[in-house]
Amino acid sequence: MHKNLELTPEEMRSVGYRVIDILVEHFSTMKDKPVGAKAEPAQIRPMLASMPLSDAPCDPHRLLDTIERDILPNTLNVAHPRFFAFVPGPNNFMSAISDALAAGFNVFNGSWLGGSAAAAMELEVIEWLAGFCGLPGTAGGLFVSGGSVANMTALVAARHAVLNDRIEGATIYFSDQTHSSVERALRVIGFHPEQLRHIPSDSEWRMPMDALVSAMAADRAAGLRPFCVIANAGTTNTGAVDPLSELAHVCKAEGMWLHADGAYGAAAVLSERGRKALTGLDQVDSLSLDPHKWLFQSFECGCVLLRDAELLKKAFRFMPEYLRDVHRHQDEVHPADYGIQLTRSFRALKVWLSLRTFGLDAFRAAIDHGFELAEVAERELRSRPGWEILSPAQMGMVSFHYTAREVSYSAIVDAMLRDGYAFLSSTKLGGITALRLCTINPRTTIEDIMGTIDRLDRFASEC
Ligand SMILES: Cc1ncc(COP(=O)(O)O)c(C=O)c1O
Repeated sequence: MHKNLELTPEEMRSVGYRVIDILVEHFSTMKDKPVGAKAEPAQIRPMLASMPLSDAPCDPHRLLDTIERDILPNTLNVAHPRFFAFVPGPNNFMSAISDALAAGFNVFNGSWLGGSAAAAMELEVIEWLAGFCGLPGTAGGLFVSGGSVANMTALVAARHAVLNDRIEGATIYFSDQTHSSVERALRVIGFHPEQLRHIPSDSEWRMPMDALVSAMAADRAAGLRPFCVIANAGTTNTGAVDPLSELAHVCKAEGMWLHADGAYGAAAVLSERGRKALTGLDQVDSLSLDPHKWLFQSFECGCVLLRDAELLKKAFRFMPEYLRDVHRHQDEVHPADYGIQLTRSFRALKVWLSLRTFGLDAFRAAIDHGFELAEVAERELRSRPGWEILSPAQMGMVSFHYTAREVSYSAIVDAMLRDGYAFLSSTKLGGITALRLCTINPRTTIEDIMGTIDRLDRFASEC
């Protein structure tokens, strides 16, 4: 059995149908199950080591037994309606099933020759996303693993377009609320810490324009070259959106590049409330937008968009001898020319299939629901003694702390996880430790929010 790496059609069906059954059970019953668990290294590592890799085959059903019993329950369910930590991953079934199709056919989506229709679909979906954000017809981009790679890809394009890759003396500006992936990307692409300017955010956790402009002027006076501003289109901490229109205006006047990290927030532009919050998104030079966050896709699905797609190509395109056959026709687009990966999977499929299956209205309503739930949570917390709001509800997030007595927030977070009903995470805002609910999951109900706050009340009095 399985000697030639093949299963019979019957075996494939039996394994495949079982996987579908596991998934259907997962999606349809998750609200009644715990929010997930964190395995202890001292247990999970020996458990896996007790199943040594063998020269002989093994029945895949036995392996699926292990996965169902020991592996999947020992992860956090980021799609669970009461998972409010970090940025949840409320994926939909169509997205998950698309990954099986894309992987099964192993579509090579690096070149037009390899994946033509897949490349065409990627172009189409990228056009949709650029259109949602109000970017012009010159815009384009590509799917990547997530916001970290999207930020890095955009910054490589910026470095090439503005500096011709000569980074000496170039300076970059972003607020202290910016996601760590931005700083990591800048380090990877060669910038030194002394070239980075962390502008302290204002009382609403946004980039203060006056401080930014003064920092740029001081750098110019010192003979440095201000080259790029990185704006937040929804911070991970509070959902704050930097003043995008004003930033675009300043960047244009100064000949600088404006990148917006909208990995978390940019997809909200689909809804009316998101569109208002994200005014100016249409003016950026580049943008990260993660469909695996607020567009309800399975990991890994990030996206980088450029106002001028050609700049991405100029930064990334190489033409080695062995790819000559691939590059013969002008209108055939090669996704690999626009980013770091040559072998690429067919990420556009899941976005295409799920947006079309449910329709845009369903996505808009799902995003609006996230905004509303954070507001419900804020109102409820304000009405209960002991809690104080540190960052009011915005972009599906609310942050708060307990003032009735000194508490251990990490003990509260641990107690929530042990309890299993809901999970949230803590952060620091202006030096104050805070709890934070990120409420973008369309499966979450108002009862889920109330039940979570009930438990927070209980654990805050105990921890
Ligand atoms: C604002 C922001 N930018 C970038 C990232 C990094 O994205 P990823 O984890 O998909 O690489 C995140 C992740 O939460 C984020 O919230």
